[in-house]
Amino acid sequence: MLSTWPTPMEAAPRLATAIGLHPDDLWIKRDDLTGLGGGGNKVRKLEWLVADALRQGADTLVTTGGPQSNHARLTAAAGARAGLAVALVMPGSGRSDLPTGNLLLDALFGARIIWAEDGPGPAALSAQAEQACAVLRDEGAVPYRVPFGGSNALGARGYREAGEEILAQQPGVQHVVSALGSGATMAGLVAALGPERVVGVDVGALPDPARVAAALASELTGRELTADQLHVRGDQVGQGYGVLYEPVLDAITTVAATQGVILDPVYTGRAAAGLVASILDGAIRPGERTVLLHTGGLPGLFGHQEAAHRIGQALRAQP
Ligand SMILES: Cc1ncc(COP(=O)(O)O)c(C=O)c1O
Repeated sequence: MLSTWPTPMEAAPRLATAIGLHPDDLWIKRDDLTGLGGGGNKVRKLEWLVADALRQGADTLVTTGGPQSNHARLTAAAGARAGLAVALVMPGSGRSDLPTGNLLLDALFGARIIWAEDGPGPAALSAQAEQACAVLRDEGAVPYRVPFGGSNALGARGYREAGEEILAQQPGVQHVVSALGSGATMAGLVAALGPERVVGVDVGALPDPARVAAALASELTGRELTADQLHVRGDQVGQGYGVLYEPVLDAITTVAATQGVILDPVYTGRAAAGLVASILDGAIRPGERTVLLHTGGLPGLFGHQEAAHRIGQALRAQP
């Protein structure tokens, strides 16, 4: 067990009112409070993946992700918890400044960072990770490859469980809104809740996340699901993955000011902005029970220079 389950389901009446719902319509599922390593959605996937690694007799977890990857950070923490070494293959040279946010925590958890100058695409990184595994094997280690974002059918089981938890905590739920990155979070939710109730807000990590999420959900359930059966919003990507987007900054500010809950600019801020947009365009209406899934990502806020700069501007503008 990498955390304590179930995670809390908190009422969000002040946020609900601020964004046009009735006060008792909106709940936040606090998967940012999955104890391990600063918390977040990847912990649920890693429970399955690390158990598989141990079953296979592995001694080293190998995965990929950017320097501000929450997945990389939580793989590093899970390795520390399970007594496994961790190698993180990241794009870039690592020669820049002081580590911040997630990268700082990767170092704290004792992960080895392998800088893959070829990056930054997931495919190029994946090839570098395979190479790293080959080198580890030559050195006598037993590597276990954790997929990009922890997203394969095994990792997605963690979010089928989360979907079941949500149903137990909010039996009448009509909408569950979540960030959609590498796909397994949405896939698992769809497996538990069906495609109608789950809204995935694309963060721009993959070219076709709906297809990936549908394929993972199909694999998980054994029933064929197509991308067009899923509700995916693509309107919060802005200029691309990781780039600060104005409606996202607004959503982060509103959630913090009404609920004292912190979101991040890459994932959960986009989910909240997608929720706001869904209310504005009538896809979610007042009186409909809605859950915003908080998938974590807090360290990413401290690793995002532009977000820090913009939030700091508000501070400087104070009288
Ligand atoms: C904080 C946070 N939320 C949401 C996601 C998206 O989850 P998934 O990759 O399963 O689509 C990620 C993925 O990295 C994440 O780090």
